Amino acid sequence: MNILLLGSGGREHALAWKLAQSDKLGNLYIAPGNAGTSACGENLALDISNFDAIKNEVLSRSVDLVIVGPEAPLVEGISDYFANDSNLKSVPVIGPKKVGATLEGSKQFAKEFMFRHGVPTAKYQSFNKSNLHEGYAFLGTLQPPYVLKADGLAAGKGVLILDDLEEAKTELRSMIADKKFGEASENVVVEEFLKGIELSVFVLTDGESYKILPSAKDYKRIGEGDTGLNTGGMGAISPVPFADSNFMQKVEEQVVKPTIEGFKKDGFDYKGFVFIGLMNDNGNPSVVEYNVRMGDPETEVVIPRIKSDLVEMFRACGKGTLAGYHLEIDERTAATVMLVSGGYPKSYEKGKVIKGIDSVTQSTPFHAGTAEQGADIVTSGGRVLALTSFGNTIKEALDKSFISAELVDFEGKYYRADIGFDLVNESTVV
Ligand code: AMP
Ligand code: GLY
Repeated sequence: MNILLLGSGGREHALAWKLAQSDKLGNLYIAPGNAGTSACGENLALDISNFDAIKNEVLSRSVDLVIVGPEAPLVEGISDYFANDSNLKSVPVIGPKKVGATLEGSKQFAKEFMFRHGVPTAKYQSFNKSNLHEGYAFLGTLQPPYVLKADGLAAGKGVLILDDLEEAKTELRSMIADKKFGEASENVVVEEFLKGIELSVFVLTDGESYKILPSAKDYKRIGEGDTGLNTGGMGAISPVPFADSNFMQKVEEQVVKPTIEGFKKDGFDYKGFVFIGLMNDNGNPSVVEYNVRMGDPETEVVIPRIKSDLVEMFRACGKGTLAGYHLEIDERTAATVMLVSGGYPKSYEKGKVIKGIDSVTQSTPFHAGTAEQGADIVTSGGRVLALTSFGNTIKEALDKSFISAELVDFEGKYYRADIGFDLVNESTVV
């Protein structure tokens, strides 16, 4: 089976690395890929928003299946483009159509979906310039802290959590009237604050059936102790100790089943990943957000824990026979630590030579922002390399990743040496 994987981050390297282990794989193409994915298949220099260019490659290279890594091509309608093209409609795309992708593209759409299908989530109302004053009144009915969310995609920055009511009103006005986050915040969801510990649950669905993949916890802030600016993610752990079987059973019954049923009832024809951001409030799940793709760096711990064949999993998803696929999971813990460029998530320099990747023996290095430059591998993004390790405990896995983090070097290298700090003591030997 020939596969085209779209994307260029650590998520795509982890997927490519696992796909390349399958004897069911024919040719693997990654567009545009990075210096890591080129060891798993052939990188194609394609703009993944240029669907006509993707079509040419799919037809000329006899691609049998397309896997979409990031959300942008999904929100732009790549799955609809394939379904509506007589030459492409027999090529399954792993990733939802535009309507399903709106679950990530619009917070209000996602909240309406959750309420329509009885998925537990914080109560909310949405506001725009026509009813801004009702927004102030609604804020007054809530307890602090106040949660304000720009409706549209705002590069991970569109959520504000504020302790003070007056400040919340000022920010609501600034988001709507002054377009603080551009068009993304012309419409704002105001919601109740959810208490608890956060985790991410990943589901793959073929539209009828589904498989729950390993859960994970990521570390979004740049600074140790979860301080400082938000990033794409500085590290991740899977499984999450507090997501025990009792909790996961509630997640399946109260969240996953109504979500997949909701896709069917609403006619989404949803084939692909669902990334469910959840709050565990005293053992009860509540949905914070949906994403329509895998997480990064969560993929770098979730995918290595899948022992069964990944090509088979995607083939079954594409054919609508996922119910018959036997998903096998490694019981051990996987941890990943992300090496980033100095200055990230603010401005940073690129093109720094990366040394020492070959001396890493206890971890699998997944490339994120890397590129080949002659014989060298150089940095080409903020997040550079994810180092994933296995252990019987979280600590054992993390210790290996931290040793590996010291073996790799590039000018300005930074990583969080406290990934997993809140979970280490909960870790149990399996
Ligand atoms: P989102 O973009 O919706 O994932 O929000 C970003 C982050 O804000 C989440 O990962 C949570 O940590 C936090 N957050 C969002 N909504 C809530 C809420 N209702 N209660 C508490 N924290 C929230
Ligand atoms: N690590 C969070 C995300 O991929 O959205």
